[in-house]
Amino acid sequence: MSTEFLSIDTTQSKTEVYKLVAEQLNSLVDTTNPAGSLAHFAALLKDTFQWWWIGVYYSNGSELQVGPYQGPLACSYIAFNRGVCGHAYTTAKSIVVPDVEEFPGHIACSSASKSEIVVPILNNGMVIGVIDADSEFLNHFDDDDRIGLESLASIIAPLVLSLCKLKN
Ligand code: SME
Repeated sequence: MSTEFLSIDTTQSKTEVYKLVAEQLNSLVDTTNPAGSLAHFAALLKDTFQWWWIGVYYSNGSELQVGPYQGPLACSYIAFNRGVCGHAYTTAKSIVVPDVEEFPGHIACSSASKSEIVVPILNNGMVIGVIDADSEFLNHFDDDDRIGLESLASIIAPLVLSLCKLKN
């Protein structure tokens, strides 16, 4: 059996690329292995978009804690009311940050990060975590990324829920 995955052709429109990512992600999701599947999610997005950092933070009941990610070391815990991640978590709304220095309370895990997008992960209408992506370029994320990541968030929600249950 071949285990080689082909990289996604990123010369297509971003909407098309997100569609292909969603298809590949669906084939990688294994609900019996939530941490492994989320590691695949982070690797797939890092490989496709070459972002500086991409990963998941999820609720442990009292704060957000880091889940599987790709990129440099990041904060282990984020209070619900802190940073871009906490803001997206408490408002249940995606946030596109063109310049992290302009976002009050932004948490700089890496000084190389210049722009960011955070998308809530919902289960039955309740926020259980967030997808966070960082770029070393200003103004890197747009509405296509928001829409694309929101659709990926619904694919990974059952995996993230499993991690939340480990701590609750
Ligand atoms: N910048 C985020 C913190 C997480 S790191 O970027 C990976 C924030 O302000 O919530």
